[in-house]
Amino acid sequence: MRILERIEQIYAIGAGPGASRVGGSQGEQDAHDLVAGWLREAGLSVESDPSGNLLGRLPGEDTDAAEVWVGSHLDSVPNGGRFDGVLGVLAGLEAIERVGRRRRTLAVVAFRDEERGFTGSLARVEHGPLPELYVEAHIEQGPVLERASVPLGVVTGIVGVARGEVVVHGAAGHAGTTPMAGRRDALCDAAELILRVRDAAAATPEGVATVGQLDVVPGAANVIPERATLSVDARAPDRQRLGALVAAIGFEPSLLAEPARMDEHVQTVLREELERLGLPAPELVSGAGHDAGVLASAGVRCGMLFVRSGAGGVSHSPDEWSDPADIALCVDVLAATLERLAGARV
Ligand code: HGY
Ligand code: MN
Ligand code: MN
Repeated sequence: MRILERIEQIYAIGAGPGASRVGGSQGEQDAHDLVAGWLREAGLSVESDPSGNLLGRLPGEDTDAAEVWVGSHLDSVPNGGRFDGVLGVLAGLEAIERVGRRRRTLAVVAFRDEERGFTGSLARVEHGPLPELYVEAHIEQGPVLERASVPLGVVTGIVGVARGEVVVHGAAGHAGTTPMAGRRDALCDAAELILRVRDAAAATPEGVATVGQLDVVPGAANVIPERATLSVDARAPDRQRLGALVAAIGFEPSLLAEPARMDEHVQTVLREELERLGLPAPELVSGAGHDAGVLASAGVRCGMLFVRSGAGGVSHSPDEWSDPADIALCVDVLAATLERLAGARV
């Protein structure tokens, strides 16, 4: 299957292990260049917008009609998996090629730098224009579909994400001559904060929070740390719980992606197309953030189709897995959904 070969070609970019196409890196740009070539081969009109988002358009018969977009992102976390983002872009391209020219313009989009903070989609929301409808296929990145032995699922909503960093200050000193009493060890204080982050999330129903980055200054074994900078990523399904979690941790988010509901009509179309293929249509909330959440918060009518994660749902890891048969079904459902959203074939 062409999509599997292309997934591997993108995965091979960078030195590895795992996907190494961090936002803004040469690896992300190489992926954009590779996909732009495939968009041209498909006969789409290719555009890189002022924010570096890549679009391939198949103009519709009614150029005044609002557009229908499908896509995701091509950047990755360090040592990421094969499918996160890439699956949605390539499945979108396969689907558009399959459905052909329609009443509405169809476009496949690769948003720039999604992982570090939805950079491309937030910028597109600022400068526009935006489509009326957007559908994102994405690997589930969790265990729900695998546990239910179901290949695809309909996303009803996306959690809110609050991300930022906290700087803990202390006082540098000699590790050997400074008595323990009176020390101001920034890393010990940071360690206590990290456990507070964990406990605040554990006390928030369906809340999660993670400290994934920690920088220590001066970072020498025999110097008491004078400064520790840590990242905080907090999430919850609604504004009330997200706000309470952020307050309990006590940090100022630099990024706040609101919890987002998926469009009822798009959900219905996805559900009906799954059922038409004789497939179950389970509903689930996404614990991962997505560009679809950013667009939905800006008023775009969005839907997401989740593809079963294998390997226990692991993601943001080279062990991320999705079965080829599930990927083929994803393209089938995505194409059928685009046919209905983009109007009659021309
Ligand atoms: O962090 C996330 O939820 C997504 O993978 N960007
Ligand atoms: Mn993603
Ligand atoms: Mn991701």
